[in-house]
Amino acid sequence: MLQNVSVIGLGKLGASMLAGMASRGMNVIGVDISKHAVDAVNAGRAPVQETNLEDVIAANKERIRATMSTDEAVLGSDISFVIVPTPSDQHGAFSLQYAKFAFKALGQALKKKNGYHVIVLTSTVLPGATRHGLLPILEQESGKKCGADFGLCYNPEFIALGSVIRDFLNPDFYLLGEFDSRSGDLLEQVHHRVSQNNAPVKRMSLENAELAKVAVNSFVTLKISYANMLAEFCEHLPGGDVDVVSDALGMDKRIGRKYLTGGFGFGGPCFPRDNVALNFIGNILGVDGRILKVNDDFNRGLAQRRIEMLKPHLPAGVTVAVLGLAYKPLSHVIEESPGVYLCRALADAGYRVIGHDNLAAQGAGEELKMKAIVTDTIEEALKDAEVVMITTTDSTYLALTAETLLQGRDKVTLVDFWRCLKHLAADPRIHYVPIGLCIDDENAASALKSQWA
Ligand SMILES: NC(=O)c1ccc[n+]([C@@H]2O[C@H](COP(=O)([O-])OP(=O)(O)OC[C@H]3O[C@@H](n4cnc5c(N)ncnc54)[C@H](O)[C@@H]3O)[C@@H](O)[C@H]2O)c1
Repeated sequence: MLQNVSVIGLGKLGASMLAGMASRGMNVIGVDISKHAVDAVNAGRAPVQETNLEDVIAANKERIRATMSTDEAVLGSDISFVIVPTPSDQHGAFSLQYAKFAFKALGQALKKKNGYHVIVLTSTVLPGATRHGLLPILEQESGKKCGADFGLCYNPEFIALGSVIRDFLNPDFYLLGEFDSRSGDLLEQVHHRVSQNNAPVKRMSLENAELAKVAVNSFVTLKISYANMLAEFCEHLPGGDVDVVSDALGMDKRIGRKYLTGGFGFGGPCFPRDNVALNFIGNILGVDGRILKVNDDFNRGLAQRRIEMLKPHLPAGVTVAVLGLAYKPLSHVIEESPGVYLCRALADAGYRVIGHDNLAAQGAGEELKMKAIVTDTIEEALKDAEVVMITTTDSTYLALTAETLLQGRDKVTLVDFWRCLKHLAADPRIHYVPIGLCIDDENAASALKSQWA
């Protein structure tokens, strides 16, 4: 039975995979070029911030070790997972710069190894990258042949930051791109060992898997944008309510309810860039990828569009508090965050902007330096705010009362992107402006009437 695995790259995804595999009884050797990451893991600590990571590493310490030597990892395991960064380049494609460096070290290690070993690329790449961008490096450095002497797979993960270990151990399915069936057979053994939910393994060619990975993310973002468009429709229909409409769509099994809650755009380290990258490779291949481009433009323009639509509720020069700066609740990540985009767009439109986020304040403060003040406490953020905008469903915001929002003033405008404080609409001191609900039935009805009467 396959028992010894190695993980190259101990970052947000790699460290959790290391911990997850060790928690399922496997011996795991972690490799990183960062001494800090290696030392942390060897000391039983988490090298990055992630839910339960520290506990799982500590609890499985006897099966985990870390090193800066790729040779040690390859010689001490049967299969190596590579999870190094593949950042977007200036064209929106995923750069192989870090992966090539890692594959060079892996090729050199393979040269020293007697016996078969499988290399598994987990980092997100575009179609063709594994076979044509990375495989030649392994063969060149090792002097060996893929298929005969070693195996190669592409095996991306579908995880969300904040629940990486749980998602890794309980996925909907494992996406397995294989150079040949021998490589895939070995990797499938790992999946069966690791999975807590007996997840199916979908095996295919390297290229189909490379496309499927980005296509999954891209398709999910289409649902999000569609829901955001429905939200806008509902604001123009008497009695319009995007949640009612989304619930109806979700009843249809072909569609499903997930990712259909209209509110605000998608962000984070994966969704936006996967869309752009897929469009990039589509252009190279001559594919009509306009859907991807429109979706990306729609999402990136959402903050600006919302400000224009909210103009009647946003007198010139008022102070606006934006609550929620991470790209989702319970996260410190501000990459491509709708809340940060909103702050920037508000500042550019001449408003004084004060931001707040329980976990992302530090990063957002640096990012928004010239555009907004980011406060440590919610009271500081609300103190001078004539308008408050809630962009994430953080539990702190769900618990806000009229008194906290008002901070002693007579009136405050509340823009609620996720309709989480609907009950405050009844308070005459709160001018409640929900996204995705119609707030002027009469006007909406007369606009419709003029079309049909
Ligand atoms: N974070 C996510 O939510 C997520 C989700 C799905 C896929 N991915 C993909 O996983 C990959 C890694 O993402 P991440 O968020 O874990 O990145 P990260 O930046 O958090 O971590 C990458 C780690 O790799 C290390 N590294 C770089 N070069 C190395 C080398 N040659 N040898 C050994 N270690 C090396 C870095 O020091 C770092 O610790 C990316 O391709 C990303 O697109 C990430």
